[in-house]
Amino acid sequence: MTSADDKASLSVQGVTVRFGGNIALDDVTLAANPGCVTGLIGPNGAGKTTLFNVITGLLAPNAGIVTMNDRDMTKLGPTRRARLGLARTFQRLELFSLLSVRENIRVAADIRKGWSRDKDNPAEAVEKIIDRIGLRDVADARVDSLPTGQCRLVELGRCLATKPQVLLLDEPASGQDETETAQFAVLLRELAAEGMAVVLVEHDVRLVMDVCHTVNVLDFGRIIAVGTPEQIQQDPAVLAAYLGSTAP
Ligand SMILES: Nc1ncnc2c1ncn2[C@@H]1O[C@H](COP(=O)(O)OP(=O)(O)O)[C@@H](O)[C@H]1O
Ligand SMILES: [Mg+2]
Repeated sequence: MTSADDKASLSVQGVTVRFGGNIALDDVTLAANPGCVTGLIGPNGAGKTTLFNVITGLLAPNAGIVTMNDRDMTKLGPTRRARLGLARTFQRLELFSLLSVRENIRVAADIRKGWSRDKDNPAEAVEKIIDRIGLRDVADARVDSLPTGQCRLVELGRCLATKPQVLLLDEPASGQDETETAQFAVLLRELAAEGMAVVLVEHDVRLVMDVCHTVNVLDFGRIIAVGTPEQIQQDPAVLAAYLGSTAP
């Protein structure tokens, strides 16, 4: 293990997932440190969402372990992991479509209230989050009336209501316009600066290179490169597998 891994909030070691005869993840190892945005990029079908499913406990791996703050979570269910400080957004949005922005976030704040020991007031926490994600103007709107870009912010808001230590974001900028993505980048940096470990799956290469401290590249279920954005953008294997065709 490197010294960086020693302080990792989240550590994935040797994770393998098979669907029938197909290998979706092949001995994947990845670390996410507090205070950092860690990128996970790669072509469609590379296994990014599958890895998030393993980390959150929605899918049991065929091999490998997932730890958070050195605690082995591999056998824990999704709710237990959430209580330990893990939150995620979904590539295919999973909001309560008939509820408002405020109500969607409130559901998560109330669930947290049920398990946390602090005296936080859920209603007040929700209002702070609404301002933080910039959705004050649409706080009372039903989420099924909102464009995708804003729905992704509601999903982020719902994560924040659980006060996570580790935040997994699955293509959060898809559906956002350029202004929204620029604001989103500022927010991601702030969340990391507050000590969160953020893992960002995203096809917007400019956003990834802009906010990530470390980038992991997944291709056909294998990590083919790990490095700084500068290293990744010059890596021949990465250029061949992914960036060569999608770089801006
Ligand atoms: N539940 C599943 N059953 C069978 N195959 C799956 C399932 N989920 C994902 N896969 C396959 O696993 C591979 C990785 O998919 P996925 O994790 O969604 O990739 P990515 O998020 O990088 O686009 C793909 O080949 C996909 O078809
Ligand atoms: Mg995916």
